[in-house]
Amino acid sequence: MKSVVQNEEQFQLATYKKMPIAAERGDGVWLYTSDGDKYLDLYGGHAVAGTGHCHPHVVKAIREQAEQLLFYSNLVYSGVRARAAEKLVSLAPASLTKTFFCNSGTEANENAMRMARMTTGREQIITFSGGFHGRTADAISATFLGKYRELGKPNVPGHLQAEFGDIESVRRIADESVAAIMLEPIQSMAGVRMAEPGFCRALREVCDERGIVLIYDEVQTAVGRTGEWFFAGSAEGDGVVPDVITLAKALGSGIPVGACLVTDQIASGIKENDLGTTFGGGMLAMAAVTATLEAIEADGMLKNVKMVEAYLRERLRKVEQVVAVHGLGFLLGIEFVDKAAPVHQKLLERKIITGTSSNPNVLRLLPPLCLQSAEVDLFVSALQQGFDG
Ligand SMILES: Cc1ncc(COP(=O)(O)O)c(C=O)c1O
Repeated sequence: MKSVVQNEEQFQLATYKKMPIAAERGDGVWLYTSDGDKYLDLYGGHAVAGTGHCHPHVVKAIREQAEQLLFYSNLVYSGVRARAAEKLVSLAPASLTKTFFCNSGTEANENAMRMARMTTGREQIITFSGGFHGRTADAISATFLGKYRELGKPNVPGHLQAEFGDIESVRRIADESVAAIMLEPIQSMAGVRMAEPGFCRALREVCDERGIVLIYDEVQTAVGRTGEWFFAGSAEGDGVVPDVITLAKALGSGIPVGACLVTDQIASGIKENDLGTTFGGGMLAMAAVTATLEAIEADGMLKNVKMVEAYLRERLRKVEQVVAVHGLGFLLGIEFVDKAAPVHQKLLERKIITGTSSNPNVLRLLPPLCLQSAEVDLFVSALQQGFDG
């Protein structure tokens, strides 16, 4: 293990504060290290391992595709790409009829904003305090969370900030220069913040009144994480459907892939060569997308998320130091009376991986969708032991 750590430290830029473990193998909710330790993974590698680590159906699909054809670009048609697009659209809210595949969340958001600007002929994008949208130039300029926007200086012009949950702050600036309003419907990195009921509906109304494109950044919330395929169209989201949804993270179970889902109206404004990417829609990624969606369906993971979420909430109710549990499904922010970082550390010592957030009192859980109640028991006991001793 030491040499793995030393090598990474020596040859890689130190861009992340890493946990002192070297991942070697994964199986469902378990991560095995090169030291032979076994960790309960309630973070899923940044919300990516939705189907769990190395889901057999996904691994088989990737292996078979790798033997068939690794890659060809969008200059040719491909059966595996056609199937992935059809499957994804079939699960999306009915008005979202077409998809554009890319490689990451930030790229999906860049393309979503570009489509909104192209189709409206307007420049400004409204995003929200506390939202995170990625680290490429336009996406980081749309990110009004902590220090991130500063890191992208000089920022791309054409960005306005509104207050998350405050519809009046949107109405004040949503004039005829605004192409899109983009939001994380549940702000994950900000500490798993949800707006008051009615906010998404009010945003939809402002967009409809003023000819503005509504974009949901569902990079974290989609592909089953909330117990629904998408936050868009769900009861918790007031049934509101945006004009564009962006996806990444769990979509390929770990094979890098992003996507924009769009309405017919947006699609009709996009012509050949308006958007592009070499790797987007590559065969390996497409095989992973279809297999990921199939695995979630076949294993009944959406139902599991709702059941196990309810159980976890119930168990956490009895932990004295827990002030509130924010979020939905398996995107949960546990707010403590005191700081979350020591809790994160103590859990790690007990071989449980969790995440922190930009709210110092909130611990984030983004576990695989196959997490079971027995594993929740392990987590809650370890949490309680951490407080007791
Ligand atoms: C809500 C949200 N949008 C966009 C991104 C950027 O995705 P990626 O890191 O794949 O570029 C992230 C990454 O954490 C995210 O959480």
